[in-house]
Amino acid sequence: MTQDLDLSNFWMPFTANRQYKAAPRLLVSAKGMYYTSHNGRQILDGTGGLWCVNAGHCRDEIVAAIQHAAATLDFAPTFQMGHPLVFEAATKLAEITPAGMDRIFFTNSGSEAVDTALKIALAYHRARGEGQRNRFIGRERGYHGVGFGGISVGGIATNRKAFSGALLPGVDHLQHTHNLEHNAFSRGQPAWGAHLADELERLVMLHDASTIAAVIVEPMAGSTGVLIPPQGYLERLRAICDKHGLVLIFDEVISGFGRLGSAFAAQKFNVMPDIMTLAKAVNNASVPMGAVAVRRAIHDTVIDAGPAGAIEMFHGYTYSGHALAAAAACATLDLYKREGTFAQAAAMSPAFEDAAHSLKGTRHVIDVRNLGLVAGVELAPREGKPGTRAYEAFIKCYEKGVLVRVTGDILAISPPLIVDAAQIARIFGTVGEVLGTVE
Ligand SMILES: Cc1ncc(COP(=O)(O)O)c(C=O)c1O
Repeated sequence: MTQDLDLSNFWMPFTANRQYKAAPRLLVSAKGMYYTSHNGRQILDGTGGLWCVNAGHCRDEIVAAIQHAAATLDFAPTFQMGHPLVFEAATKLAEITPAGMDRIFFTNSGSEAVDTALKIALAYHRARGEGQRNRFIGRERGYHGVGFGGISVGGIATNRKAFSGALLPGVDHLQHTHNLEHNAFSRGQPAWGAHLADELERLVMLHDASTIAAVIVEPMAGSTGVLIPPQGYLERLRAICDKHGLVLIFDEVISGFGRLGSAFAAQKFNVMPDIMTLAKAVNNASVPMGAVAVRRAIHDTVIDAGPAGAIEMFHGYTYSGHALAAAAACATLDLYKREGTFAQAAAMSPAFEDAAHSLKGTRHVIDVRNLGLVAGVELAPREGKPGTRAYEAFIKCYEKGVLVRVTGDILAISPPLIVDAAQIARIFGTVGEVLGTVE
């Protein structure tokens, strides 16, 4: 199949294009826990696609809902118009968001959700008469997508450096929470590091609270290589935000929809943000969709600020709540509820944790960290060639029929939440085997 395919036109995202096109890996179909590759191999999905296929691939109910929507209402605007599915999707989503965070703005991606959340924070302060609060605080190693807002508050140097002259002004960053000296091989939340949240107080002292609109963090940092928040850290961030009137945004694009064993990380950690950004598993990644869940009081402040009859917030996307995406979201959220997918993830977490930590002592492994159904396996980098060892391990796992994700020198594992014990054993067993063969 690859011989007939022209690979030159598609400029691949976040990919070494020349390297990939020299030795392509194509996935042609998927079902449940498995992909099928172009050469007919079954690949066990250890990554849930890209941390997004939480219910497993090509679920019949979701496929049927999309097919029905496509044949019934291909597109209807949500600017000054609407369609039932988008309202229904918002209602179903609001059933599982934390209490009071039940106002939903739809987008098409996590990146757009982040931009939207940042704008909502600004709009909120402006509506309250504090329009001078226009500074954002992000965190080093944070990933918030690739819009200019997202890379500005994000903290991944490679994603920022080429565009550094055009980032949002007035953004500052907390330090990241990764520390191998104190926290290597922690099971669940590491014990050390709550005090790192106090840096927010220092930034408030520096900039003054009256200039700061919002703080945005991933409650569990995924893309940078799975950083689990230290015990007490998020609680402290919440308390400092409360003290200074800062909007707290949790970017739950990865941590949401059962990944950590609860609907959202907010409930898992029992720390409630003011705004949450969502995407990916909102509809099992079957049609592009993102969402922002907003505390009702913030929504009402913005909505009630202007005169009746005027548009309250000049923001939205042609496809905010696209009918196919909304239909898929309704079917997915029903499926999660019916099957108890989040509880299933929680029940499988101890076996997953044990399997992940069985890699302790394996060649090259300098850390294993985990929570719910996500784990990061950090490898010692090769001298002068960072990332190459983990990349080679990723390729070898793929050759052995297991898909994992590589980011720098970290392998990330985040299977669909329907994964069973034998599949968990196979994923980590393959990683261990491969590490024995990688130099
Ligand atoms: C925490 C977080 N925020 C935002 C995004 C961006 O989402 P998208 O790629 O859908 O724009 C991602 C993607 O992985 C993410 O992990």
